[in-house]
Amino acid sequence: MPDWSKIEAAPRPTLSELFERGDRLDGLTLDVAGIHFDWSKTHLTPELIADFAALADEGGLKAKRDALFAGEIVNVTEGRAVEHTAERYEGAAESVARAKAQHARMRALIDAIEGEALGPIQHVLHIGIGGSALGPDLLVSALGQEGMHYDVAIVSNVDGLALEAALEHFDPHATIIAVASKTFTTTETMLNAESAIGWMTEAGVEDPYGRVIALTANPEKAVEWGVDETRILPFSESVGGRYSLWSSIGFPAAMALGWDAFEELLEGAAEMDRHFRFAEPAANAPVLAAFADLYYTQVRRLSTRAVFAYDERLRLLPDYLQQLEMESNGKGVTADGVPLDRPSAPITWGGTGTDAQHAVFQLLHQGTHVVPVEFLAVIEAADTLDEQHHRQLLLNAFAQGAALMKGRDHADKARAYPGDRPSSTLLLDTLDPRTLGALIAFYEHRTFVNAAILGINAFDQFGVELGKEMARAADAGDQDLDASTEALIKRALG
Ligand code: F6P
Repeated sequence: MPDWSKIEAAPRPTLSELFERGDRLDGLTLDVAGIHFDWSKTHLTPELIADFAALADEGGLKAKRDALFAGEIVNVTEGRAVEHTAERYEGAAESVARAKAQHARMRALIDAIEGEALGPIQHVLHIGIGGSALGPDLLVSALGQEGMHYDVAIVSNVDGLALEAALEHFDPHATIIAVASKTFTTTETMLNAESAIGWMTEAGVEDPYGRVIALTANPEKAVEWGVDETRILPFSESVGGRYSLWSSIGFPAAMALGWDAFEELLEGAAEMDRHFRFAEPAANAPVLAAFADLYYTQVRRLSTRAVFAYDERLRLLPDYLQQLEMESNGKGVTADGVPLDRPSAPITWGGTGTDAQHAVFQLLHQGTHVVPVEFLAVIEAADTLDEQHHRQLLLNAFAQGAALMKGRDHADKARAYPGDRPSSTLLLDTLDPRTLGALIAFYEHRTFVNAAILGINAFDQFGVELGKEMARAADAGDQDLDASTEALIKRALG
C-alpha cells in the first residue's frame, strides 16, 4: 500500500494564506480541449502535487494507465479488459478496428432509418437503465438545444409512470424502440421493452419487433427476445455499462444530434485520452483533479463532494457522475480483495446553479460539513435573451467559489462564515459535442486515477447484485425475509 504519511503530515495553510504567498494560477490552472480547469481555490500546492505524484508512482499509476490503453485485463475481478477508450479510437489496434466496424454498422442503420427503411420515423424511444440511460440522456439534454433530428425519450425507471409519460407524446406508427442493455437481461429494461411492444401492438403496428433496435453486448439474448440480427448494434463486453455512451449505447444521441456530432463527441474524448496518456502528472487534468479528490477524501476525511453546473444544459451531469464515481469507486476492498483501510469514493452529489444557491448552499457556507465544490460554467451563452441572464449566471458561479474561500468574520456567530472552503472551477469555452466529449472523458480518467492510487478495481459493481437477487427471490416467494420486509410486502402487495 502506498505511504500517505508525508501527505498527511504536510502543513495545512488556509486558502487565503496560499493566495497571499503568490501566484496560484500558474501551476493550478490548465487549458485542455476547450476546458479551463482551475484548482487554485483548493489546498493543493506544488509540494503536495509532487508528493501525490510520488504516491501515484508507488501505486503504479503509469503501468495501470498503460495497461488500460493496451487492452490488458484491468478489471481483474471479472477477468476483462476495459476498452471504452477504443470506442473513441484510442487503445489496442484490434479493439479500435472492432469499434470502428461497430460504429460503421450503427451509422449505416441510422442512414437506413433516415431513408425510411423502417417507415417515416419521428420518435426514438430509448429504454435502458443505469449506464444504458444516464450517458445518452446527458448527451441529448446537453446538446439537443439546436434542434434535434428526432424526438427522443429516454425511459429507465420500472415505475410505469415513466414509460406512460413518454408514450403519451409519441405516435406508435412513427416510433422506433431502442432497447439498450449491455446484458439484455435487466429486469426494468426488459419489462419496459415488453410494455412498449404492447403499446405498439395495441395501436395496430404491424410488426412491433421490427421497430426494435437492440444496443447490447449480448446479441444472442436480443435475438432470443425477438430482435432481428440486422437491427442489433453490438458493442464489446470490455466496455463497462457506465462507460458505454461512446458505443452503440449512444445510438439515440447519434440519431437525434446527427452522425457528425457523434463523431465530434468521440474526437473530443480522444483528445482528452491523449492528454491523460501523455501529460506529466503536474500538468495532467484528470490526474490533478484526482489528487484534489484524494486530498480531501483521504487527508481531510471529507465524505462528500458536490458538483454544480451553472448551465441548464448540464443539469443531468450530477446524476451521470453519481453512477460514474460511486458505482466505480464505492468499494470496500482493493483489487486484490484486501479490505480497504481508508475511505474509498466520496458521495457525489450536486445540482444546477443558480437554483442550488437558494437551497443547499446554506450548508456549504456555514454548515459543519465541509464539502469540496466543483463549479461548471460555459462562456458562450445558449440563450437568446438579454445578456444579463448569462452574465448573472457566470458571476454567481464565480462569486460562490470566492465566498466559500474568503468567508466573513462577524460578531454575531450566526452571521459569520468560516471560509477556507475549497472549490474548483471548470470553465468551458462553449458546449459543443467536442467539448462535452472531452469533459466526460476527463471525469472517466479522474475516476480511474482515484481508483488506481487507492488500489481498487473501478470496473466491477458487485454491490448492486444483492438487492436485485432479493427482489427476484421475494417475487418468486422463496426469500427468507425479516419480519419488517415481509410485513411491508404483505401490506403493499398482499
Ligand atoms: O445495476 C447496475 C448495472 O449493472 C449498471 O452497472 C448498468 O449500467 C445497469 O445496471 C444496466 O445494465 P444493462 O446495461 O446490462 O441493462
